[in-house]
Amino acid sequence: IIADEPTTALDVIVQKQILDMISRLVAERGISMLMISHDLSVLATACDRIAIMRDGELVEVGESYAVCTTPQEAYTRQLADAFPTIGDPASRMAPVTRHGRGADEVPEITHGDEVLLEARGVNVTYRSGGRPVHAVRDVDLSVRKGEIVALVGQSGSGKSTLARALMGLQPADPGSQIRFDGAPLPSKGRDLARFRSQVQLVLQDPWAALNPKHSVYESVAEGLRVQRFAGDERERVAQSLADAELTPPERYFGAIPQELSGGQRQRVVIAGALAVQPQMLIADEPVASLDASVRGEILGLLLELRRRLGLSALVITHDLGLAWNIAHTVAVMYHGQIVEHGPTEEVLLNPQHEYTRHLLSAAPRIEEKTA
Ligand SMILES: Nc1ncnc2c1ncn2[C@@H]1O[C@H](COP(=O)(O)OP(=O)(O)OP(=O)(O)O)[C@@H](O)[C@H]1O
Ligand SMILES: [Mg+2]
Repeated sequence: IIADEPTTALDVIVQKQILDMISRLVAERGISMLMISHDLSVLATACDRIAIMRDGELVEVGESYAVCTTPQEAYTRQLADAFPTIGDPASRMAPVTRHGRGADEVPEITHGDEVLLEARGVNVTYRSGGRPVHAVRDVDLSVRKGEIVALVGQSGSGKSTLARALMGLQPADPGSQIRFDGAPLPSKGRDLARFRSQVQLVLQDPWAALNPKHSVYESVAEGLRVQRFAGDERERVAQSLADAELTPPERYFGAIPQELSGGQRQRVVIAGALAVQPQMLIADEPVASLDASVRGEILGLLLELRRRLGLSALVITHDLGLAWNIAHTVAVMYHGQIVEHGPTEEVLLNPQHEYTRHLLSAAPRIEEKTA
């Protein structure tokens, strides 16, 4: 079997089922396997040996556990570091970037801080073939100013639906209460336009978010034009690109998405979101489609924006390591409900809910093979 990134798009529980199945097939039937992945922890779970490839060459080959824990090459170390170890203080709030580990970022947020977004008793019911689908059930969730909240949960648990409802893009059922900066979500007119500029959505796939025919300049300016921005458009676009660390910005103005790398495309999407000067980002799997080194850079950028601009963020992810890496608090969603929400250390190191424990046990770990 040659398996090329067989589990990349899957949540941890499904991923573990697939990896277990592959391991069983290999053991029972004596099948050989070559598995390709950017995630060392996945390879360490399923494979006996790991070969590290860079720019067309194999830079390191060895027994899986040894390659992950005592890498000989700097590049291997970088790949291993890109996936944080839950519980390791060194990987808390400090994603690894191209320039090494991020500056020591202490999660300075206190429970007294002001609430920016508050959801109370939110329900969302879809109609599918005449039948109701209760995608979000009685959710209470708050995001404080400057706080990064990770929303984790398995595929289909209602994360994206909740995110759309919080942004007013998906109608919530009657009785649901969503308040932003102290006021109920506006439903129309200038208040709605103002609200839309304060909460911006960043999606997993920059390809889907960018028009392939539009230049970087056009893509970033689009939101400003929708908002009828009265200031200097060129200056704001340049500033937003610089904030997303695309410098010098003018060099990117004329580029179309096809001419950019995956990481640069995601930065353009983030620049477009920053252009309208939001108070909050809702990011739905913002790094799931990016490779390990770029992933660290985008996460580092999110932390930096929080620190510098005071942005709040709700980051949706199926990756618990990512939550450990950047979030102040973690909310766990299961069958449409938030079953647990608390400080990251508490939720991930001392989970109270059975589903959270299940999620954690399914997360791939770099462990020595005993069998
Ligand atoms: N437009 C729709 N019409 C009917 N049902 C829908 C619609 N969108 C989503 N659903 C259902 O609502 C539930 C929650 O879906 P949602 O997309 O919010 O999950 P999710 O947690 O974001 O999953 P993933 O991790 O796979 O992105 C699922 O059962 C899904 O089938
Ligand atoms: Mg989703």
